[in-house]
Amino acid sequence: MRGYLPTPVPDALLHEVLALARMAPSGANLQPGCFIAVQGEARQQLSSALVGAWRAGAAEQEDYDYFPHPMPMTLRRRQVAAAQALYGALGVARDDRVGRDAQFERNFCFFDAPVALVVTMEHGFGSGGYMDLGMALYGLMLAAQAKGLSSCAIGAMASYPSLIRQHLGLSAASHIVCGMALGYADPTAAVNTTRTTRCELDEYFKVVG
Ligand SMILES: Cc1cc2nc3c(=O)[nH]c(=O)nc-3n(C[C@H](O)[C@H](O)[C@H](O)COP(=O)(O)O)c2cc1C
Repeated sequence: MRGYLPTPVPDALLHEVLALARMAPSGANLQPGCFIAVQGEARQQLSSALVGAWRAGAAEQEDYDYFPHPMPMTLRRRQVAAAQALYGALGVARDDRVGRDAQFERNFCFFDAPVALVVTMEHGFGSGGYMDLGMALYGLMLAAQAKGLSSCAIGAMASYPSLIRQHLGLSAASHIVCGMALGYADPTAAVNTTRTTRCELDEYFKVVG
């Protein structure tokens, strides 16, 4: 969900979903990762710095690779379909650069959700740590959903790790993984009518023997 009501999320509820997220399993129970709630003035300053960097076309070295380079055509098709679902729901045409950029910028404002999380990972973890943290992230999203909240992970945040560290007073030992918007979905927001599909079972499930 990328459109939220301004209704605040009670602290006790946020703590509850974070505690549930932490029940995720992890290799050797290392429980990697940290969730940072960014609020008030700090949140405004972070978002305006991120939007400024994005508008200026600033480029930073990301802390980890997300997408394959180059993107194979099968994956590229899925990416394009997801983008079409999003921009189609908003009525933004394929060649409407301004409209697409305006939606992209909303990533950096956590979609104006009442809760803005920055998700970090201790420096030094390899892919296994990211897998563990992914489980906790999904645990968070499912727990939130079960409690009437909605969410959206924001990988776009990973584009500006140094800027985020600087604003949150973090050292280079904290890798920036993603952001997370959390709150009560706005039932009237067109963006929330975005619907994606999934590939067929035989594309990702094989039987050998
Ligand atoms: C780790 C992660 C990062 C994501 N980053 C973004 C993002 O930066 N911006 C965004 O609008 N959606 C983001 N998404 C949402 C995906 O685009 C979305 O989950 C996918 O298109 C499938 O759609 P669905 O979740 O609505 O089924 C992210 C999802 C995940 C799991």
